[in-house]
Amino acid sequence: MARGTILVTGGAGYIGSHVVLALGERGERVVVLDDLSTGRADAVLHGELVVGDVGDGALVRRLLRTHGIDTVMHFAARTVVPESVADPLKYYRENTCATRSLLEACAAQGVRHFVFSSTAAVYGVPEGGIADEDTPTAPINPYGSSKLMSEWMLRDLAATGALRHVTLRYFNVAGCDPAGRIGQSTPEATLLIKVACEVALGRRPELAVFGTDYPTPDGTGVRDYIHVTDLADAHLRALDHLRAGGASLTLNCGYGRGYSVREVIAAVERAHGAPLPVREAPRRPGDPPMLIARAERIREVLDWRPRHDDLDTIVASALAWERRLAQGAR
Ligand code: UD1
Repeated sequence: MARGTILVTGGAGYIGSHVVLALGERGERVVVLDDLSTGRADAVLHGELVVGDVGDGALVRRLLRTHGIDTVMHFAARTVVPESVADPLKYYRENTCATRSLLEACAAQGVRHFVFSSTAAVYGVPEGGIADEDTPTAPINPYGSSKLMSEWMLRDLAATGALRHVTLRYFNVAGCDPAGRIGQSTPEATLLIKVACEVALGRRPELAVFGTDYPTPDGTGVRDYIHVTDLADAHLRALDHLRAGGASLTLNCGYGRGYSVREVIAAVERAHGAPLPVREAPRRPGDPPMLIARAERIREVLDWRPRHDDLDTIVASALAWERRLAQGAR
């Protein structure tokens, strides 16, 4: 199996840095491109870090050429749903347009494999709150649209024979490296489990529950939370699939089980050993009521076997990381 160098865009960010760590453990050659707008240089534990913009075509072409890169894993993106509602053009610029520029550079330099970070947000509000890969895409926020447009460009480029891709549609990624080497360090993070852990440690005064009148069992939003280390493993398997000559694929990444905001809060309270200060608040713009994966396909096609499929495990790792951050870790 040929093993070329891998360009990881956004490799200093939350998910990207966990994938870089997993690639490093396997002895892969990695170059990280990250503008450090939300990522952190000290989260890159493997490979070379180049600080720059993924939308900078000249820079990307130079990197692809000088490092002999044959595989790109593209994480760099804006990801916050309510922010995308407030500033849609930022999302179309930094997600859609930047991806277009990256793909153009990849095609010009003969990159053969592309692993793309897409999102469950492409499904919008699927029937019954559950989506498989054939569920019609119908995003309800600009973030989901910006990623879906990127999926389309990638699909169409792949159809020319220029490259093959695995597009991974992430559900709600949470938790941190079980060994505590890296974690979710995004400043002013909006992710529920991260925010709840910050509240537990007194770094925020309270947790707002955005919406208690959804058509869900307890009225709060339901999501499919997947451990970042299992997600990183899915990326390695996607890479192996492409290197083995596998066809282009689009796959959900989730466990197939949903938890409400209240259930997540209860898990954080269990891990922390004390109640959290919680305030009920209005719905957040752009949020679907329920989003759960049907995720059989990734198990079948990539033989993906999650090892951290447990909400308490996810929350414990997130809280442990938050404690390290409070003590001044990265
Ligand atoms: C996350 C991802 C998004 C991805 C989506 C897939 C980020 C920043 N967001 O968005 O890219 O497309 O998963 O499903 O990576 N909530 C509260 N209080 C809070 C924070 C959140 O009640 O302080 C609620 C939300 O209203 C929602 C649930 O918790 O019902 C999860 O929200 P969040 O963790 O922000 O993730 P998503 O918005 O689902």
